[in-house]
Amino acid sequence: MTTRIDLPQDDMPNYWYNILPDLPEKLSPPKDVSGKSIEVMGKVIPRKVLEHEFSDKHRIDIPNDLRELYFQVGRPTPIIRAKRFEKFFDAPIEIYMKMESYTFSGSHKINSALVQAYYSKEEGVSFVTTETGAGQWGIAVALASTLNDLKAKIFMVSSSYHQKSYRVTMMKMLGSEVYDSPSTLTDTGKMLLKDERNKNGSLGIAISEAVEYALKYGGRYNVGSVVNADILYKTIAGLEARKQMDIAGIEPDYVIGVVGGGSNYSGLAFPFYERKKDIKFIAAGSLEVPKMTKGTFEYDYPDTGKILPMLKMYTIGSDFIPPPIYSGGLRYHGVAPTLSILMNKGIVSPRDYDQETIFKYAEIYSRTEGYIPAPETSHALPIIKEIAEEAKKENRKKVILPLNIFDKNGSSEINTTVDFITLWSTPQAVARDLYGISTSLQKSFLSFTEIP
Ligand SMILES: Cc1ncc(COP(=O)(O)O)c(C=O)c1O
Repeated sequence: MTTRIDLPQDDMPNYWYNILPDLPEKLSPPKDVSGKSIEVMGKVIPRKVLEHEFSDKHRIDIPNDLRELYFQVGRPTPIIRAKRFEKFFDAPIEIYMKMESYTFSGSHKINSALVQAYYSKEEGVSFVTTETGAGQWGIAVALASTLNDLKAKIFMVSSSYHQKSYRVTMMKMLGSEVYDSPSTLTDTGKMLLKDERNKNGSLGIAISEAVEYALKYGGRYNVGSVVNADILYKTIAGLEARKQMDIAGIEPDYVIGVVGGGSNYSGLAFPFYERKKDIKFIAAGSLEVPKMTKGTFEYDYPDTGKILPMLKMYTIGSDFIPPPIYSGGLRYHGVAPTLSILMNKGIVSPRDYDQETIFKYAEIYSRTEGYIPAPETSHALPIIKEIAEEAKKENRKKVILPLNIFDKNGSSEINTTVDFITLWSTPQAVARDLYGISTSLQKSFLSFTEIP
């Protein structure tokens, strides 16, 4: 069996898949408590994106200009079989990684950023705003803005802004302005900065700041996850993967992934759900932000400043203050409403894993595959262990499809991992429990050299 499955450029799908008409239950509409939030959305979100948000069409055509932009930034991306990682488990499993890292920005985020920048530009604005956690979405928006002749103003969650400074540099290099959030540029930021507990920031806070700024200064706000339109644009990855698996004559038994707001997983999984309902879908979040296993399915605000309409989703509360874990992209309090419905119906099984566990798997993966996965992506790796054990017990082959994001932004991730170990190695850091997590983490890192 081949290690790499490519898709010819001309075979890249010419539409996005919209799950809304196929959901097992109708999506609950956004709730406008203030009486102003729907109006706010209408002002800051490009019209075309809003139209897609509520569309009941199964397929939405990708404009030719956008197809060209997709080609330019590296689509279609390959699938690569992780043979050495399979071997590590000594079980009858096959792992096919959809390599979103092969795009310019290094992640699935560009699939949506390009589209939202394109539709923003159509409306004649000069800039877009957005939030970013780990910086992956911010880099994608910076790149997409540059390619669409726009300026991007990016509110980056404070803990990541300081942990991942290389990413700030990358966004600036691409022509964007990046602000440490909570910032003093917005009323929301100023208000939240009064409470010391908000100083590390959160995606919920950064979203409120980005929306407020766009509203005040006449830009458009581009959304990085959670909403239907963003996930719709990200289905390009799953649609490609479906064709690639067909080319290779393989059917996945499991489609697995990780959830920040739910967009990378949904972008991969929804096209498979469209075709075959009996695939096993498993998605993991962070145990430090345990919305997958401890969240409740109810209306909540997607942003901490409560500017946007409430959405019905799994949530641990928009006021939840997440610890500054390294998986900045998983520090969000809610799960996309569409994915939440699939979880609620038992179609997607949820997991949450702690930072200590996932860094161990990240190291094993790096040493077997020669590829350093993003800490967020690494939350999918313990699911593979679970499937491997099942496959061994049943003595039956299991084919697994995850979406893979390498921190191609290179030294940025290596820098944070090294940072992480270094910080944990200092007695002051341990004494202050700098990251609010157990000190056993430091020991576990130091023992990693024992892993084969
Ligand atoms: C590498 C990576 N993976 C996953 C995520 C999670 O977000 P989502 O669930 O919206 O894909 C992020 C978000 O920043 C990310 O940077």
